[in-house]
Amino acid sequence: MSTSPVPILLVDHDEKDFNAARALLEQFETDTYCLDWAPDYEAGLRALSKGAYALVLVEYHLGGKTGLDFLQSLKDRGPEAPVIVLTEKGDREVDLQVMREGAYDFLIKGEYDASLLERSLRYALSRRKTEEHLLHTARELERMNSTLKETQSRIIQQEKMASIGQLAAGVAHEINNPIGFVSSNLRTLAKYADSVTGFFKELQRLLADAPAGSPLHALKDQWRDRQLDYAVEDMIDLIQESLEGTDRVVKIVKDLKNFSRVDEAEHQHANINDCLDSTINIVWNELKYKAQLTKEYGALPRIKCFPRLLNQVFMNLLVNASHAIEKQGVITVKTWQDNGSIVASVSDTGCGIPEPIRKKIFEPFFTTKEAGKGTGLGLSIAYDIVARHKGEITVDSEVGRGTTFTVRVPALEPQS
Ligand SMILES: Nc1ncnc2c1ncn2[C@@H]1O[C@H](COP(=O)(O)OP(=O)(O)OP(=O)(O)O)[C@@H](O)[C@H]1O
Ligand SMILES: [Mg+2]
Repeated sequence: MSTSPVPILLVDHDEKDFNAARALLEQFETDTYCLDWAPDYEAGLRALSKGAYALVLVEYHLGGKTGLDFLQSLKDRGPEAPVIVLTEKGDREVDLQVMREGAYDFLIKGEYDASLLERSLRYALSRRKTEEHLLHTARELERMNSTLKETQSRIIQQEKMASIGQLAAGVAHEINNPIGFVSSNLRTLAKYADSVTGFFKELQRLLADAPAGSPLHALKDQWRDRQLDYAVEDMIDLIQESLEGTDRVVKIVKDLKNFSRVDEAEHQHANINDCLDSTINIVWNELKYKAQLTKEYGALPRIKCFPRLLNQVFMNLLVNASHAIEKQGVITVKTWQDNGSIVASVSDTGCGIPEPIRKKIFEPFFTTKEAGKGTGLGLSIAYDIVARHKGEITVDSEVGRGTTFTVRVPALEPQS
């Protein structure tokens, strides 16, 4: 089996040294080496930037420069081939210094023979291999460490969402009963108020004709002092307004329950239009000052999915859309069916996402928002959730015009 020769560069001013070194290398039986020659410091650096050498032999005295200068230039250029310095006999201090500065070995000129040279070359090559292996392992460890950190943060974020969901469902449950009897009592009160008002109006007509000094006339004074005209008029309105208020609370409670669906950690049959509606109601406060919301829902079958998780996806898309709008804009939510899939899109007329950033938005912790406003996890979690539904999430954006995120999930088992 033939292996390609190991390329070595010799930097040495004397061509005779080059020929001698080449003659020595030719004596090796096992490995083959191929030796190139550079006659000075500059030529050496030039040769290294052109060709890939597995090893460099460099003589210590390089005209005005030294082997130390050469080592330094290599260090400045980043990882380079290992260097063996050819030193002069009797200069112990130089030998030690070149080793301190990163040479793999030194050989004393005129003193080394073929076997010494071979030992030195083999040692340098195998040390380089070990170093590369260590470097690779260190990088691998670093990568694993950051994957671990990322997974940990994801779990924390997901648990946070789950406990927010649980809290929301708990609060919704607690409010449900009292608000139920408050609104039922208000409806009864509205009926009572209606009949009391009718009676008061009759009484008012009677009092108007009461002769001065009669007991009825005294009642008329009281009627005026107590401003009953106004109270009778206002009573019905107040009850009506309160009923509107409680109806709103009832709706919020329903949305909260729908949104959190803690009791439904498993696959559920749900209609994506309903998921979108309850999520929109939950984030309405965030949207209403920034955007006019347009809904264009198509008729959708119920699909088997994790509604609570999809709600999280839609919530993040809606909040992102509103963050992207600086002052006033439009957010459009559309749904339709396409080729066995349910598709939902959220578009905004916001700032858009520049091309270089678009590649990164699904990465965990990538955010362009100021600290405290975004963690950069929203889209990466959305990506995972959609992938869990065997679907896909895509983005289409134009800077200055707006962005559309499209979520597509297969409608595997349609239910009527
Ligand atoms: N509709 C959009 N318009 C413009 N840029 C967007 C839009 N949606 C996402 N981005 C960009 O993608 C980045 C990542 O979004 P992602 O939802 O993952 O994190 P975030 O919103 O910054 O923080 P988090 O959702 O964790 O609170 C955002 O910081 C923003 O730069
Ligand atoms: Mg977000």
